[in-house]
Amino acid sequence: MNLLEAIDARCSRRSYDGEALTPEDADFFRAEIEKINNVTGLNCTYVEDASEAFSSFGATYGMFSGVKPVIVLKGLKSTSHLYEKVGYYGEKLILEATSRNLGTCWVGGTYENKDNVLGAAEDEEIVCVITIGKVSDRMSVREKVVGAIVQGRKAPQKRYAADIEEVPAWFEIGIKAVVKAPSARNTQKPFFTLKSGIVRVSVPDDYRFDLTDLGIAKLHFEIAAGGKFALGNNAVLMRDE
Ligand SMILES: Cc1cc2nc3c(=O)[nH]c(=O)nc-3n(C[C@H](O)[C@H](O)[C@H](O)COP(=O)(O)O)c2cc1C
Repeated sequence: MNLLEAIDARCSRRSYDGEALTPEDADFFRAEIEKINNVTGLNCTYVEDASEAFSSFGATYGMFSGVKPVIVLKGLKSTSHLYEKVGYYGEKLILEATSRNLGTCWVGGTYENKDNVLGAAEDEEIVCVITIGKVSDRMSVREKVVGAIVQGRKAPQKRYAADIEEVPAWFEIGIKAVVKAPSARNTQKPFFTLKSGIVRVSVPDDYRFDLTDLGIAKLHFEIAAGGKFALGNNAVLMRDE
């Protein structure tokens, strides 16, 4: 499964088998995380057993079960574009996990860093964690209930404005991949414009995870349509030659 196919296959999973990843998978993610840290200045880590962070009903609302390994998406508080980088590179890890047949979920709020089990230093900020692990092919009843609460996708036409009536096929393909992107509380805020042939994407930036959702949306668009966005809110897409 390539990353484009993984965009189609991915959905948030919250019930895991409580086991470690295979050594091959764990090594793969450790190596990927190291590469990401090198190019971004983030300090993301793979934590083998983070079950304590998901054990309190008060923090998780009972939505998660069997969580064991997680990827901690963190960086120095001073890191430039911290929230957006976490979105872009965290989603890359999620799509890679999906293509390796693993379940994942973005978690920004419903965990507790009990006794610093996630290992953040004083000058670091944990933006989100990714739960990762084996899941059953069918969703549990609990997962279905949570999924139903936060489900629903905006129509592609609600995600962009253009100054031409008929947008090019590549742009439409990009927007369709954005529609499938995860977002905090499923708010689906990233909004694209195609004006004078230039693509931009922005978020209101009035909620903690808006810029993380922005990074996720940029990655989905790029995977499907090609090109590379500059960093930042309302940044421009540089198209492939
Ligand atoms: C930045 C971010 C933070 C999130 N935080 C949580 C969370 O704390 N708890 C949770 O259960 N889901 C969380 N989610 C998952 C979203 O609820 C989910 O992506 C959205 O409802 C869309 O569903 P889907 O991922 O199945 O497509 C988060 C997603 C993102 C992108």
